[in-house]
Amino acid sequence: MKEKIKDLFREIDELKVDSKEHVEQLRIKYLSKKGALSDLFADFKNVAPEQRKEVGQMLNNLKNHIQEKIEHLRDEYTQKEETGKEHPDLSLPADFMETGSRHPLSIVRNQIVDIFSHIGYTVFEGPEIENDWHNFSALNFPEEHPARDMQDTFFIEKSDEPSKDIVLRTHTSSVQVRMMETHKPPIRAIFPGRVYRNEAISARSHCIFHQVEGLYIDKDVSFADLKQTLLYFAKEMFSPETKIRLRPSYFPFTEPSAEMDISCNICGGKGCNICKYSGWVEILGCGMVDPNVLENCGIDSKIYSGFAFGMGIERMTLVKYNIKDIRLYFENDLRFLKQFASVI
Ligand code: PHE
Repeated sequence: MKEKIKDLFREIDELKVDSKEHVEQLRIKYLSKKGALSDLFADFKNVAPEQRKEVGQMLNNLKNHIQEKIEHLRDEYTQKEETGKEHPDLSLPADFMETGSRHPLSIVRNQIVDIFSHIGYTVFEGPEIENDWHNFSALNFPEEHPARDMQDTFFIEKSDEPSKDIVLRTHTSSVQVRMMETHKPPIRAIFPGRVYRNEAISARSHCIFHQVEGLYIDKDVSFADLKQTLLYFAKEMFSPETKIRLRPSYFPFTEPSAEMDISCNICGGKGCNICKYSGWVEILGCGMVDPNVLENCGIDSKIYSGFAFGMGIERMTLVKYNIKDIRLYFENDLRFLKQFASVI
């Protein structure tokens, strides 16, 4: 018995394997119920009582030795397999990796920024939570103006004195005020950003949307400059054939004010449901900055004049890509977003 145990010890010491499966075969050979070790344990009952203590210890040592050896071989083999992976075949084609795409609103925002940056406009940004001064008062909104009404504005803090209200900005004109307060003319900037209005969510309107507003202040800036700038923008944004038309309008912070339409790029003027069969699509509001606004922001209105304009990015994207439901922009449905993968 003692000899058998010693032989097995030696046999185990010399074991070598060439695969993971081989390790498993050895485990079965030595450690399973019908394995070599079990046979020895079965013989143990034949050992003379005075030798039992010594032989029992030898058997236990052998058992531990086999278990350790098998575990060691298994580890070694697994490591070998893994190190093999560190040297992949570099000539193999790469794994397919799915890349994301830009959100359509980001695409259009970047296009607008790009077009204006070519004619010297810089980007200026400001906070989404605003005080009454920057969102309304400095912009010449009379206190009883309906835009101050709870209907349109989300209030963070509402006070008895409107001048103390804190709101979610309803337009990025608030950032125009911040720029005029802190910069001396000439000023030429655009103001992209998210704005909030308390409106019911439907296919056509949302309580969150995005705007890009623009401002140009210098000596002798005229309405003709505004018109030419917007014509350049419309041709760059849509197509060189695009025509514009300006209709009189009203904003508290511009005088005169106008709304601008472009010739419908979906139907080419023939009539479709985007242009409501008129051949024209409204895309932005604009006007000459009211002298009161310039004075409110510390700019001398006798020396300087300027124009401002503002457009909704959702609307521009609708007109450009014919997307009829504004809610699609916020749902982040991949089937929608993937369609813009090829646009940069
Ligand atoms: N602030 C206006 C709006 O939110 C847009 C606008 C900006 C109009 C500048 C005229 C001049 O609707």
